[in-house]
Amino acid sequence: RVAGPCVLVLFGVTGDLARKKLLPAIYDLANRGLLPPGFSLVGFARRDWQDQDFAQLTHDAVKEHARTPFREEVWKQLSEGIFFCPGEFTDDGAFDALAMMLKEIDQTRGTGGNYGFYLSVPPKFFPVVVQQLKRTGLANAPEGSWRRVVIEKPFGHDLRSAQELNAITSAVFPESSVFRIDHYLGKETVQNILALRFANNLFEPIWNRGYVDHVQITMAEDIGIGGRAGYYDGIGAARDVIQNHLLQLLALVAMEDPTSFGADSLRREKEKVLKAVQLPPDLELSTARGRYGPGWQGGEPVAGYTQEDGIPPDSITETYAAVKLEIANRRWAGVPFYLRTGKRLSRRVTEVAVIFQRAPHLPFSKDDTEILGQNALVIRVQPDEGITVRFGSKVPGTAMEVRDVSMDFAYGESFMESSPEAYERLLLDVLIGDPPLFPHQREVELSWKILDPIEDFWATQGPPEEYPSGTWGPTSADEMMARDGREWRRL
Ligand code: BG6
Repeated sequence: RVAGPCVLVLFGVTGDLARKKLLPAIYDLANRGLLPPGFSLVGFARRDWQDQDFAQLTHDAVKEHARTPFREEVWKQLSEGIFFCPGEFTDDGAFDALAMMLKEIDQTRGTGGNYGFYLSVPPKFFPVVVQQLKRTGLANAPEGSWRRVVIEKPFGHDLRSAQELNAITSAVFPESSVFRIDHYLGKETVQNILALRFANNLFEPIWNRGYVDHVQITMAEDIGIGGRAGYYDGIGAARDVIQNHLLQLLALVAMEDPTSFGADSLRREKEKVLKAVQLPPDLELSTARGRYGPGWQGGEPVAGYTQEDGIPPDSITETYAAVKLEIANRRWAGVPFYLRTGKRLSRRVTEVAVIFQRAPHLPFSKDDTEILGQNALVIRVQPDEGITVRFGSKVPGTAMEVRDVSMDFAYGESFMESSPEAYERLLLDVLIGDPPLFPHQREVELSWKILDPIEDFWATQGPPEEYPSGTWGPTSADEMMARDGREWRRL
């Protein structure tokens, strides 16, 4: 899989995402030989810059964040195709200049009129940029070439705004040209959920309400909001990651097998399961919210959320969210899916734990099985990528004592190949035009339909419960599990 001739136009080149992820990913693709020789990168931003200034920014970003080693000859070839177009999004002249520049690049570098437009900008700028692409004719692909637009979450703030946003892009680009990035789908371990389930016959027979007690999906971060107050406040943990990353994980874990890994089949199965998701009737009992207070992280004292720069003291935004969901279909009826995410928790870990029912009868004395948990299959998404199976095993000795043990698969030990970074994989898919790993608008809307009632409920509840930074979140989240006679996994 190698990209054909094309230009990637990046709006929002001076942002964090560009510096930490996108520009390094482009270099990594080049380094792995996955970009065509004439590949060109155009940066567009409100800076009084020349091509070499943007090349310098890219160079520094690559040096600091690229996954693959820096090779002078790769950089030299890539940098010959780096261009910069200065301007404001509202400036017609700047977009006319962009159109001219792209034409010239086609002529000098053989890029064939194939353009990807990456909108790494806040959603409030989507309408104006998309309109400019329409006005200049850049959105329309002449026969034999392609035009694609890449948008980053947040895809709206709720169902209504997601639909409005979509109306803006779909008036200009057909759905097949819109690539919505949910970078979790670019992660190797997330794609491996599909391999685990559908390339094996071992797990699928027990992957249902007959054997599974419940599922826990956790995305814990140790970092706070950093410099992102402007984005985060008013959004909160649930909109930031449950609406997208965690519901996508749920969909992959719970969906039926697709007839192929083509975009249509995969999306159809994900949609079906998202459509079947139901909220428990009492949201007070089946959701929990928190926000980090002052505490300790990595041996250092850290500030609480409301002491962070740019956060109003009366903010009611949550930095921790937990929800219990059910899936009303034959496979999952009655099996709760617990989702939790939070910032400034004890450590960074994302995992999906499928917890199985206890054996129906234990022919051992009670004492011998006291330390026996429930069988679990844990998909370790990050940082220690792999899969763990927990099961009871006889303790060596003359008595029949049973204790839990783990069987581990670790990527690093089983494979020599290094995983591409999520953005690297997804950028290549955009340039190739391969859509399975990009959520369809219907998935975005279904996810908002799940979240909107929860957000509406929380909006009436005042500020969230504070938890000390460096702990595992608010007590209300533990109480939520305890009501069901369960516990969060200790990570
Ligand atoms: C982003 C969220 O989508 O994912 C951030 O907006 C979060 O708040 C980030 O920190 C986490 O990504 P990863 O890949 O580090 O788990």
